Amino acid sequence: MTTTWQGLRTDPRGEIFLDPVGYADQERWHAVAAELRSEAPVLRVEAEGYTPFWAVTRHADVFAVSRDNERFRNTRNSVLGPDLQFAFLNSLGIEPKTLIHMDGHEHSAHRGLANDWFRPRAVARRQEAIDAIAAEFVATFRERQGRCDFAQDIAVPYTLRVIMSIFGVPPEDESTMLRLTQGVFGAADPEYLGDLADPVALLTDTIGQFDEYFAHLSAERREHPTDDLATVIANGQVDGCPMDRHATLWYYIIVATAGHDTTSYALAGGVEALARRPDQLAQLQASPELVTGAVDEMIRWTSPVRHFLRYLEEPAELSGVEIPAGDRILLSYPSANRDERMFDEPMAFRVGRPNANRMIAFGGGEHFCLGSTFARRELRTIVPKLMETVETLELDGEPQWAQANFVGGVKHLPVRATLR
Ligand code: HEM
Repeated sequence: MTTTWQGLRTDPRGEIFLDPVGYADQERWHAVAAELRSEAPVLRVEAEGYTPFWAVTRHADVFAVSRDNERFRNTRNSVLGPDLQFAFLNSLGIEPKTLIHMDGHEHSAHRGLANDWFRPRAVARRQEAIDAIAAEFVATFRERQGRCDFAQDIAVPYTLRVIMSIFGVPPEDESTMLRLTQGVFGAADPEYLGDLADPVALLTDTIGQFDEYFAHLSAERREHPTDDLATVIANGQVDGCPMDRHATLWYYIIVATAGHDTTSYALAGGVEALARRPDQLAQLQASPELVTGAVDEMIRWTSPVRHFLRYLEEPAELSGVEIPAGDRILLSYPSANRDERMFDEPMAFRVGRPNANRMIAFGGGEHFCLGSTFARRELRTIVPKLMETVETLELDGEPQWAQANFVGGVKHLPVRATLR
C-alpha cells in the first residue's frame, strides 16, 4: 500500500506540509513557509495519493477559519494522510472518530462529558499534584548532574505522568500508553516503526492494542467507578444514551494521546531554545515573573501540532483566493505562529515577547484545545523549578527531531547544565 506521497502536481513548496522528514529541518521549513505567506498564503496542493487541499499559512486566516465552525467543518478526515490509508482503516471499521472529527451538537454533547475536568478551576485544584510530579523530575535532572536526554528523560515522562494521573492509568502502564501514542502520532518515524512493515501497519496494530487496553479499563471502571477521567468516559452518556464501544475507544484515545506528546514537545523544544540562547536563559532566570509569557513563547516557537483540516460547507474567500465548496483546508499552526504580520521578528525566540499569548498553537473556536490550561500549567510549573536549578545550560550533542507531519518536535535533546 502507498503510505507516502508520491510527488506533487502543483507548486513544489507544498511538500513542506506532507513530508514528515522536512519538519526536522526547521530553518528550511520556516524559510519556505515565510515565502508562502508572502507569495501564496492560500496554496492549492495536489499530491499523488492525496485528496487535494489548500494550505493556509497566515495567522489571520488560520484564526478566521478556526473560529467559523459553521462554514468550516471538521467532520471526515481531520488529519492529513494518504487516501488509501483512510480507506483501509474504514474497511476495517476502525476509522478515527474523536472530538476533532465531530461538528455541531454531536461535538458539544461529546465534549461536554470531559469538559469539567479541563476547566481552569479544576486544573488549578491539581496544582499540588503537578508540583510534586515536577519536583520529582527536577530531582532526576539533579541526580544526573544536569546531563541527560532532556526530551526522553524529563519532558516525556513528566507530561505523561501528569495526564495519566488524572486519566487514572496507573504508573506501571505509562510506558504502554507512551508506546501506543507514538504509534498514532509518530507512525512515519523509523524509530517507532520497529519490525512493522509500514506506517499503516503500525497504526492498525496500535489501534487494536488501544482497543484491548481500554475495553478492559472501561469494564473495570463501570464495575468500580473512581474519581478519574477514565470513569467519566466509561460511564459517559451522550443525549441520554451510553456511548458505544467505537465512540468510547476514540474518546479514550484522544484524551490519552493528545495530552502528553504535544506538551512534551513544547517543553523539550522550549528548553532547546533556551540552551541555544544564553541571553534568554539569563533573562528568564533573572525575571521569574516572565514565565507565563515565556511558556506561551515556547508553545508558539514549537507549535507541536502541525496542522488540522477543515472542510468548506460553502464557497469561501481567504486572502483573496476563492475556494470552492467541498474542498478542504489545511491550517498550518507553525506557519501562523511565525507570521510577521502578527509577531515582531517572528524567527527570534524571546522570553519577554509581549504578545506571545496571541500564538495559535491551540487552534480556536469550538475545537479550541481542551487541554490548553493543563498544558500551560504543566510548563509554568516545571520551567521555574528548572530555572532555579541550573546555572548554565547548553546542548551536549545534536538534537534529533521526530519525523511526523501531524504532531512532532524534538525527540532527543542531549543537554549539559551546571547546577546551582
Ligand atoms: C502544548 C500542548 C498542546 C497543543 C499544542 C495542543 C494543540 C491542539 C490543537 C491545535 C487542537 C485542535 C484545535 C482546533 O481544531 O481548533 C487541540 C485539540 C484538542 N486537544 Fe490539545 N494540545 C495540547 C495539549 C493538550 C492536552 C494536555 C490535552 C489533554 C488531554 C489536550 C487535549 C485535546 C483534545 C481532547 C482536543 C480536541 C478538542 C475538540 O475537538 O473539541 N491537548 N489541541
